Amino acid sequence: MHPTTFDLFADTEAGQQPRADQIGEQSWVLRGFALPCVDQILTALEAILLAAPLRHMVTPGGFSMSVGTSSCGALGWITDRSGYRYSTVDPLSGFLWPEMPEVFSELARNAASKAGFADFNADSCLINCYVPGAKMSLHQDKDEKAYAAPIVSLSLGLPAMFLFGGFARGDKPQRIPLLHGDMVVWGGVDRLRYHGVLPIKQGHHPRLGEQRINLTFRIAG
Ligand code: SIN
Ligand code: FE2
Repeated sequence: MHPTTFDLFADTEAGQQPRADQIGEQSWVLRGFALPCVDQILTALEAILLAAPLRHMVTPGGFSMSVGTSSCGALGWITDRSGYRYSTVDPLSGFLWPEMPEVFSELARNAASKAGFADFNADSCLINCYVPGAKMSLHQDKDEKAYAAPIVSLSLGLPAMFLFGGFARGDKPQRIPLLHGDMVVWGGVDRLRYHGVLPIKQGHHPRLGEQRINLTFRIAG
């Protein structure tokens, strides 16, 4: 079970200063970028997760993912025994994924623009929920129709150690700590870099409790 209610009245990270860290030729970590709109993001996210609950999807190899997953937007990323792909409908309900809230698309567009990618209009937002111990193995985002658009990701809740690698699985990745409100944008020459997340450490976040939620915005179709 994943907690889907957030304490919207907990303290914000008032001391966190906005800052951009370059982690690749066309890759940036935008520190605290989402903090000004995080309340609206969390409110919208709660509604989405009521309509399209988190579930543990199964990889083509038959393994259940450690993250709980859902989506919003025109296309949602899914996996099952027949493969990784995008779908216009939530396989759990048979209905279209919930619409992408304006506050999501606007935040993603602003982050992309800050990182040098204009006119980013995401058609997909993947929601990944990590409880302590959950992780994401090194992978490339390759299921999208084209790679011209960047990947835009938002971290919420518990801290994570993001792995940002090279173009071969074996390339030693940079270790990048990500906190609540941080955004990562990678695209252009860096679009197909391997990346992943180390197992989330036990902890308690004032807003989200014992979980980390990552929103990944993409142009998939
Ligand atoms: C992903 O690459 O699918 C997730 C990245 C993250 O959780 O930060
Ligand atoms: Fe990814």
